[in-house]
Amino acid sequence: MKSKNFDINELLSETGSSLLTIIYKSLLKRKKQIILECGVNKGYSTSIFSYYAENSDSYCFSIDINDCKDVVTSERWTFIHSDDSKVSEIIQDYPVLEDKGIDILFIDSFHHVDHVKKLLYRWYPYLNKDSLIFIDDIDARSYRKGKEKDSYYNELNWEKINRFTRDFSENNASDTTLTQYFGKTGLAKIVKKSNKGSLPNPIVNRNRSLLLQIIVLTIIKLKNLFRVK
Ligand SMILES: C[S@@+](CC[C@H](N)C(=O)[O-])C[C@H]1O[C@@H](n2cnc3c(N)ncnc32)[C@H](O)[C@@H]1O
Repeated sequence: MKSKNFDINELLSETGSSLLTIIYKSLLKRKKQIILECGVNKGYSTSIFSYYAENSDSYCFSIDINDCKDVVTSERWTFIHSDDSKVSEIIQDYPVLEDKGIDILFIDSFHHVDHVKKLLYRWYPYLNKDSLIFIDDIDARSYRKGKEKDSYYNELNWEKINRFTRDFSENNASDTTLTQYFGKTGLAKIVKKSNKGSLPNPIVNRNRSLLLQIIVLTIIKLKNLFRVK
């Protein structure tokens, strides 16, 4: 594997502070995996996946909306130049993703909760039994007020992605286990138990309208006020 922008030994070193080390360690006991990576950019994660693919008789497909085809050179890697939410089109062009199924799904493209949700629901039926789903960016800490990457938009969005991973897992409790990793920008790991072809349940949430919240808070305050001491 040749990486245009990264030194693989540095990426994999224990001192590397990246959450990708967690992904890499989760892969080590697995062989003959089909990996689908959403979001390539300069090829940080792509380098790790294709290096792993070469050493485990696996294969990595990576999708990006921009042309990233030269970030890695490996006979175990294919770049797909596309919007990663266009699942039917991608499957048509790469039927192996349906025939063999996907064992590792990494979501790290457009960091908006609606996009993450779309990807997880659309790719889920193609995931094999015991597959691993990694969702990057679920910890908002570095975007909080006064922190190094201070951004109100990202803070809200990362919180929503975090909430989504919990809601998804709760609503699919019999089919998934969720682990969340904090630090840096965070990472979620979901293990899928069912066979390829199974569909995820939709998320059902209680309606938390502002009006309803105000009414409930007012009732609690009134109850406390008139409580016999
Ligand atoms: C955070 S970067 C990916 C980082 C990469 N995984 C790594 O570890 O270096 C996000 C990438 O997602 C791509 N992207 C954004 N929206 C996309 C979409 N709808 N479909 C595919 N790729 C998209 C961007 O072009 C960008 O290269």
